Amino acid sequence: MTFRLLFIGDVMGAAGCAAVRTHVPDLRRELNLDAVVVNGENSAPSGRGITHESGSELLSVADFLTLGNHTFDAVGGREYVGREPRVARPANLEAGLPGQGSGMFEANGMCVGVLNVQGRVFMKQDVRSPFEAADEAVADLEAAGADLILVDVHAEATSEKQALGYHLAGRVQAVVGTHTHVPTADTRILSGGTAYVTDVGMTGSRESVIGFDKEDFLGLFLGKGISRLGVSKGPADLNAVVIEVDDGNHQAVRIERIYRSLAV
Ligand code: FE2
Repeated sequence: MTFRLLFIGDVMGAAGCAAVRTHVPDLRRELNLDAVVVNGENSAPSGRGITHESGSELLSVADFLTLGNHTFDAVGGREYVGREPRVARPANLEAGLPGQGSGMFEANGMCVGVLNVQGRVFMKQDVRSPFEAADEAVADLEAAGADLILVDVHAEATSEKQALGYHLAGRVQAVVGTHTHVPTADTRILSGGTAYVTDVGMTGSRESVIGFDKEDFLGLFLGKGISRLGVSKGPADLNAVVIEVDDGNHQAVRIERIYRSLAV
């Protein structure tokens, strides 16, 4: 028997939230899913951060949420992340910030540990080593009784994400990359039974530049004095991976891309 876990990549604004809310109930049935984890760091209407409303909408169909570099950017985000136990923000942020770097939930008799770390290469924030933070959090989750562990590596550099995959191979069941919003074609099982992908891809408006209005983004690159990027509206794509874990030896045996589109 296998445990089947769906991980959905960065949800962008209202279009992304709608795609998750619409597709997840069907995907749970179709794919016989045991659990669903979603990266919600761009789910706020602004595309930056999470709000009580966007987090609650995602958790109405998902089991657990991960975040990233925009964790505290939306109004009310700090309070929400600080009080919602089904959310993990990067474990390698400076000490004392609200929220937790990892958490656990139960699904079909399995304790699923979820850990979020943020990369340091080509990223603005000065965070501590994601490698060290992951080591500590994995040990904590194991001590707390996690049967399987999923790590969301929220990072810009493909090299840093691949390195973290190898660093954690054989110690966790899945290492999934987020943040760059464009899916990569490298789903595979690393030695020791760890499912890996460099970037799951985003869940948000298709006709966009990484989920933001394409005209705004183009204007920015063309030097047209654009000062803000709006979240793109319109038909949304959902990008995810389904990971199968052998519930006997607790090794991942399969990772496969899932794609759905939604006309809104
Ligand atoms: Fe991000």
